[in-house]
Amino acid sequence: RKDRLGPGDIRARKGGEPVVCLTAYTTPMARLVDAHCDIALVGDSLGMVLHGLPSTLGVTMEMMILHGKAVARGLSHACLVVDMPFGSYEEGPAQAFRNASRLMAETGCQAVKLEGGQHMAETVAFLVARGIPVMGHVGLTPQSVNTLGGYKVQGRGQAEADRIALDARALAEAGAFSVVLEKLPEALGHRITREIAVPTIGIGAGADCDGQVLVVDDMLGLFSDFRPKFVKRYAELGQDADAAIAAYAAEVRARRFPGPEHAFGEGKPA
Ligand code: KIV
Ligand code: NA
Repeated sequence: RKDRLGPGDIRARKGGEPVVCLTAYTTPMARLVDAHCDIALVGDSLGMVLHGLPSTLGVTMEMMILHGKAVARGLSHACLVVDMPFGSYEEGPAQAFRNASRLMAETGCQAVKLEGGQHMAETVAFLVARGIPVMGHVGLTPQSVNTLGGYKVQGRGQAEADRIALDARALAEAGAFSVVLEKLPEALGHRITREIAVPTIGIGAGADCDGQVLVVDDMLGLFSDFRPKFVKRYAELGQDADAAIAAYAAEVRARRFPGPEHAFGEGKPA
């Protein structure tokens, strides 16, 4: 497929064909995602999923660039979005531009994603005005786990719902081409989708969002440290891998692997 999607194409999906998004962190996974999805997101979830970190807070620019480059090599169709890691953009627009432009230049991504609502709107407008498409992310923002007090559902109650709706609207008005809504009551996902002019990409925000995203290792059953309710397991690859590795170990110990079909003989003389 040569029809490369960009942020403008995603933006134009508002209210139309659902936007299909998955994370990817490596070239082989990017190839699989590219064949079926509109957006490949190099999420900072890679800190937990690939590197064994306890949260996304320890993820660095260098990690995002390394994985962003790997994913870029596997894409020919999907729009490539790379997360800005914790500490790389919160100081202000100038810091955000410096690091977002580096992510774009070094990975070839078409857009960046950053977390935060009204307080990030000025930064989003600054980046967009200077050539960097931005995906927003509101509701449960994992980089703020310590101030949020855990990974709980956000936006319960009228005041909190109103605040998160304002957050999403501020990002859309600042020029974000789409906004991720994470872990919200489905009624709030519906309301924000109705209220903002750009596509909402839900993760645990109900069926009414303009698109959906999941961490690919979660939906494949490859990462099981957390099992949030919003993850549907489409496969159990972790269990399959465990069974395969157990079988290999047993066969090596019993001297049943390698078999004659895996061994090199003398070969035929020329
Ligand atoms: O880091 C990530 O994978 C994300 C998605 C879950 C939206 O931000
Ligand atoms: Na993220």
